[in-house]
Amino acid sequence: MMNIEETKTTAREVLALLGNPVVVVGSINADLTVETARLPRPGETVPGGPLATLPGGKSANQAVTCALLGAKTSFIGVLGRDAHGDLLYQSLRNAGVDLSGTSRVDHPTGSTLITVDSQGENTIVYSAGANAALSEGQVSAQAEVIKSARVLGLCLESPLEAVQAAARTAHEAGIEVVLNYSPITTVSESLLKLVDVLIVNEHELAVLAGAPIDPANHEELQAALEGLGFARAVLTLGADGALVLENGVFVPIPAFPITAVDTTGSGDAFMGSLLAALAAGESLARGACLASAVAALAATRMGAQASYQPAAVVADFLNN
Ligand code: RIB
Repeated sequence: MMNIEETKTTAREVLALLGNPVVVVGSINADLTVETARLPRPGETVPGGPLATLPGGKSANQAVTCALLGAKTSFIGVLGRDAHGDLLYQSLRNAGVDLSGTSRVDHPTGSTLITVDSQGENTIVYSAGANAALSEGQVSAQAEVIKSARVLGLCLESPLEAVQAAARTAHEAGIEVVLNYSPITTVSESLLKLVDVLIVNEHELAVLAGAPIDPANHEELQAALEGLGFARAVLTLGADGALVLENGVFVPIPAFPITAVDTTGSGDAFMGSLLAALAAGESLARGACLASAVAALAATRMGAQASYQPAAVVADFLNN
C-alpha cells in the first residue's frame, strides 16, 4: 500500500491537472441536520443541537466538489420553487457549477433528515420531492451538455428512467459513465451495462453481488466485480481507505488520518474528485489518491457542500 506521503504527492500532481468538463445528472437536497451526542435507537428520543438547513444531495454534492477543484462542471437536476431551492441554487452557483440544465417545479425541493453523532457518524432519511420530477425528457433535452463532457457522474437518488437515459446518451457518445450504487435500489442489467466505473461501499457491493465479500479476498472480489461486468471499480472502505480495481489488479489507497466531525457527503466528495480526475485523463488509482484527501478534508467540517473546500485549500492540506 502506498504511504500517505506518496498518496499526497500523487494527489498534488492530479489536482494540478483538473479542468476538463464533467456533467453530473441527479439529485439535489436540502439537508435538515441536527447534531446529537449519539444516534437515537428506534422509538427513542434524544436531545440535539440547533437545526441547520444545509445544501446537499448526492449528485449536487459531487458537482460542487468537481467545480471547486477546478473542473468545468454542469449539473442536470430539478429544484422546487421554494426557499430550499434558492439555497441550493446559490450553493451550486457559488461553486461555479453550470445550472442551465436544471429546472424548477412547483413541488418542494428534495430534502433529507440527518442526525450526526459525536463521532461524525450519521443517519439520513431522504424525501425525493422535486427530484422525482427529473424525467427522461429533461435529460434528453440536455443531450448536448452530456456529450460535451468527458465524464458523467450518476447515483440512484433520481428516477431510474432519467438515470438510464443519461447513461445511454453518454455511453453512445463514448463518454465515461461513473455510477455510485447509492442509495441501494434494484437496477436493471441494461443500466449496469452502460456503466464504465462502479463506486460502492462494502454493504452496497454485498447487495449488488448477492452476498457479502471479504475485501481482503482479492480473488473473490475481482470475480464478483467482473461477474457484474466491471473491470474498473472502487470499493470504498471508510477509515480503511479504498481499493481500486483497474488493469486487472487492486491498488489499495490509504485514508488520510483526520478527526471526523461529520462524514455526511464525504463519499460524494470522493466521487466528485474522481470524476474531475478521470475527466483530466488520470487513472482511477491516481484519481483515488486525490479523492481520499478531498473526502478526508470534507469530514473535518459539518455538512456536505458546506464542508467542501476549493483547490487552494486542498493543496494546503496536501502540503501539510
Ligand atoms: O451522501 C450525502 C447526501 O446524501 C446528503 O447530502 C443527502 O442529501 C443525501 O442525498
